[in-house]
Amino acid sequence: MNKITIAIDGFSSTGKSTVAKQLAKHLGYIYVDSGAMYRAVTWFAMQNGFINESQFYIQDLISNLKKVSISFKFNINLGFAEVYLNGQNIEKQIRTLEVSRYVSQVAEISEVRELLVKQQQNMGENKGIVMDGRDIGTVVFPDAELKIFMTASANTRAKRRFDELINKGEKVSYSEVLKNVQERDYIDSHREDSPLVKAHDAIEIDNSNLTLQEQFNNILQLVENKL
Ligand code: C5P
Repeated sequence: MNKITIAIDGFSSTGKSTVAKQLAKHLGYIYVDSGAMYRAVTWFAMQNGFINESQFYIQDLISNLKKVSISFKFNINLGFAEVYLNGQNIEKQIRTLEVSRYVSQVAEISEVRELLVKQQQNMGENKGIVMDGRDIGTVVFPDAELKIFMTASANTRAKRRFDELINKGEKVSYSEVLKNVQERDYIDSHREDSPLVKAHDAIEIDNSNLTLQEQFNNILQLVENKL
């Protein structure tokens, strides 16, 4: 069957990865969480002392980027691929609020974007891929057959992220999660290199009031129209 490229972009915590995983599973496609790659570089920067509460040594991070090797390995029990940095599974470490606090600053750096975009494009060479992020339909796969731009109110999104973190046992308050979601959205949509914008040919879906099943059915219909 004809395989296509599906690009899903949108603000933080709009549920992009949930629907991307569902679609990939249903279609037998590869799923790539591009945000995990920016989080992996952020984790690398934190581990190596290039970023901390008071300082960000951007040049040091840039000159050490050649030491960053990111890969994904499918975990059959979880049903999706986990992210590895230089051979170490860092799936849990990158999902914390601490990494979320720094990731948008790391994602502003053009050298970081260049490195990751190249890798993302290689992963999509043979199509049959669902990738979610901020610049997938605009920069990574501008020729993707289907582009979705997901939105939801800031409160809905912060509530989702808050529940997710609490379920993982993190001690966070709703207000700090909301603040983080708003700050990241601001930086992501105002940066110079590859800002978060809706591609002119993307279909916008506001899922504030949609169930997961409704959202999945709507998007699957869009996919089927392209096959
Ligand atoms: O998707 P997630 O929220 O995990 O992404 C974390 C951060 O990575 C985003 O807030 C954004 O700063 C950055 N990102 C990006 N481009 C992408 C994916 C993520 O700049 N394609």
